[in-house]
Order: sequence, then C-alpha cells, then structure tokens
Amino acid sequence: MSKVYEMIYLPTAQCNCRCAHCGLNFDTVDDNEKSCAEVADAIIKSKYINSNVVVQICGGEPFLRNDIAGFVIPLLKTFESCYVSITTNGISTSNIANFADSIPPNLRSRVGFAISIDGIGETHNQIRKYKNAYNLAIQTTKIVASRGFKLHINTVIHEENIDQLKEMKRLFSNIPISFIPICTDVSCDENFPYSDGAIQAFFSYLNNHPFFIKYICSKGHMSPPTDVTQGRKISLSCRMGILSPATLVLRTSRIQIVITWAISAIVDSIMYGKTATNTEL
Ligand SMILES: C[S@@+](CC[C@H](N)C(=O)[O-])C[C@H]1O[C@@H](n2cnc3c(N)ncnc32)[C@H](O)[C@@H]1O
Ligand code: SF4
Repeated sequence: MSKVYEMIYLPTAQCNCRCAHCGLNFDTVDDNEKSCAEVADAIIKSKYINSNVVVQICGGEPFLRNDIAGFVIPLLKTFESCYVSITTNGISTSNIANFADSIPPNLRSRVGFAISIDGIGETHNQIRKYKNAYNLAIQTTKIVASRGFKLHINTVIHEENIDQLKEMKRLFSNIPISFIPICTDVSCDENFPYSDGAIQAFFSYLNNHPFFIKYICSKGHMSPPTDVTQGRKISLSCRMGILSPATLVLRTSRIQIVITWAISAIVDSIMYGKTATNTEL
C-alpha cells in the first residue's frame, strides 16, 4: 500500500462567519470533537505516513480552537520534512498570534498560512457576514508575516470584488505576500455564478489555476478526473475530487470525505478504531 503524502485535517466544522460562497454544513457541529493532540498522536503512531507528508489544516475555522499547536508541533518534530499549511479567516487574531509565538523559530519555515480575504473593507465584511472581519484579518496577516511564516492570501472571486482585485494585488504586494484569487466553483447551469463580462475582468488572475480555468471555460460543467473518482459521481460542491489519490481527510468527530476509497480503512482506524487499533497503524 502506498503511504499517505498529503492530508487535510479539519479540526472543527464550527465557524464564526457565514460566507456567501461556502458550502460548509453548519449543522455538523459535534461537541465531542477530538483534541488536536489526540489526532496528532494517532497519525504519528501510523506506519502509513510519509516523512515528507504535506498537511493542510482547514475547516470550519481552525482558530476557533486553541489547541492547534498540539497538532502542528508534534507532527513537525516527528516527520522531519513535513510541511503544514493552515487556512484561516484570520478573525481570531490573538489566538493566531499565540499560536504563531508557540511555534519554535527553527520549525517556522515548515508552516505556512493562507489567510482568506475576499475584498477591501466592507466588501470583505459583507461577503463573510462578519463585522470588522477585514481589519482583523489584515492585523493577522501582519502578525504572521512578522513572525517569519510563509503567507498567502486566498480570495474567492465574487461579482462584488472583481473591481477590487487590482488594488488588492497592489496592497498585498507591500506586505509582501502572494495574492491568489480563486473562483467559487460550486455551481453550473442557471446557478453558474459569473457573467461573461465578469469572466473577462478576472480571467487573467487565474494564470496558475488550471482547475479554475477549466471550470470557468466549461461554465461549471467540468467533472473531476475519472482516475480519482473511479467511476463514482462526485458533486461539483465536492472540491476534494481534484486532490491527489493518496490523500487522507480527517475530521475530529466524523469522517468528512475520503478521497481514495482504498485508504478509508486507515481513516476508520484512526478515528474510530474499527478495523485496527491506533497502535497497529
Ligand atoms: C472552507 S475555508 C476553511 C478555512 C477558513 N474558515 C477560511 O475561511 O479561510 C477554506 C478556503 O476555502 C475557500 N472556499 C470556501 N468555499 C469555497 C468555494 N465554494 N469555492 C472556492 N473557495 C471556497 C474559503 O474562502 C477559504 O479560503
Ligand atoms: S470562514 Fe471559512 S469555513 Fe467559515 S463560512 Fe467562511 S469560508 Fe466557510
């Protein structure tokens, strides 16, 4: 069996925002979420993880929890070439600052942040449905950059922010960080979110995103590659279908999505001890 070289860890399904583009099911909150340290421990005990594993922490909003370091530090110390990236809305500024300070300086080059900013000022606040989200996210980007972490900005393109992309690119180049606009990719047919004029206005920002170019050019009718789906139907709202085969998706309470059905047994084992105990992995 090939080893896992890429993982997505969703420490929580809870979120303080209600973004217009987000497909998160806010009813999935589970009070019995496992601690980050418990999940790290299960992964560390597994013999199926590559030492250069890339781990993406996403959610929900990961920094609604204050034990993310309990996941990240043990992994970085155990897997010597492991890289961890964390996507956050940047609203929990002080929690993120505490997290950043707790990472030993010699490990920071292996931790990256993607902070989601969907427009300037009120545009961002309205898309994210959170008052003051923009100011907090900007404050967070400055803190993260000043602590020596890799950093980029994730922007979901909406009709409302297209005319701000140029200014955002300029703004963020001053910090400096990379600015990566992406499209929302959940709809086709009558729900396809972009007009032809809008596409013309933002198309040049998609240079490095073959997936999004394909999505836009097909107006939402693309399907994930068949070698990944193995003939199974994956809905467009399932963006995981584009990831690599040996990807493990973990959630603290329930399994969210398993990319490669062949490794679902590992996920079951780690999370529920169904087919093997954690120590057997
Ligand atoms: C699901 S969020 C989780 C992390 C965190 N709450 C945040 O907003 O950064 C991860 C990233 O996916 C983006 N995202 C959510 N729904 C999307 C969609 N339909 N299309 C494209 N990106 C989306 C978010 O804007 C965010 O940058
Ligand atoms: S902050 Fe992230 S998880 Fe929360 S609603 Fe927005 S995109 Fe979804």
